[in-house]
Amino acid sequence: MELDLSSLEARHAHDLLTSALIPRPIAWVATVNSRGQANIAPFSFFTGVSWSPPVLAVSVVTRPDGSYKDTLVNIREGGEFVVNLVSVDLLAAMEQTARSLPYGTDEAEAAGLHWAPTLKVKPQRIAEARVAFECTLAKIVSVDTGPDAGNLVLGRIQRVHLQEGLLANEREVDWQALDPLGRLSGKRYCTVRSVIESDYKRSQQTLFR
Ligand SMILES: Cc1cc2nc3c(=O)[nH]c(=O)nc-3n(C[C@H](O)[C@H](O)[C@H](O)COP(=O)(O)O)c2cc1C
Repeated sequence: MELDLSSLEARHAHDLLTSALIPRPIAWVATVNSRGQANIAPFSFFTGVSWSPPVLAVSVVTRPDGSYKDTLVNIREGGEFVVNLVSVDLLAAMEQTARSLPYGTDEAEAAGLHWAPTLKVKPQRIAEARVAFECTLAKIVSVDTGPDAGNLVLGRIQRVHLQEGLLANEREVDWQALDPLGRLSGKRYCTVRSVIESDYKRSQQTLFR
């Protein structure tokens, strides 16, 4: 079977792509508007791009009515944002912040979350997030104009915040301590609680739970 995604109705293409590209990490992006009001929303079209220089990418899709999401408006205006990572215990709060509230409403406060200070950028980070990346805007690549088109936001990481006890070997984030939430599609999420460590030289695989 072959499909031409561009001939499908937009929501159908969305469902097909988001159910195939799994699992995805979730960038919980904090920004401020020109009046200094905070905003936060989750985005799972999210990945790392480069480590030297350190760069992340988040795709903020244009709304079906052709308007831009608050996150994109704020990043265009202010050039700064914070990517917070979502652990399993934060699922409900994260989902609350995905609702469309009036522009300028503090979604984090409404979800019972707390803001914590940042060092290099104006937007604050979420105190409850175990990892947060302070970013400055490097570039926005809009794939097209009009409804549902992606706007890829590339952010250069200026600082990383890690909660106590998160580092393993003093150099990498401990996956068990991070307990990240993965995005599948629809109402589905996943955890990283079963990990395969592969030693290809010995053709040996070990399962950690
Ligand atoms: C888990 C999750 C992942 C999401 N991923 C994306 C995404 O990758 N791109 C996108 O444009 N919207 C995504 N959304 C929807 C936005 O979070 C939603 O449109 C939000 O209201 C945008 O907020 P804003 O207008 O404050 O920027 C996602 C929602 C959830 C719950």
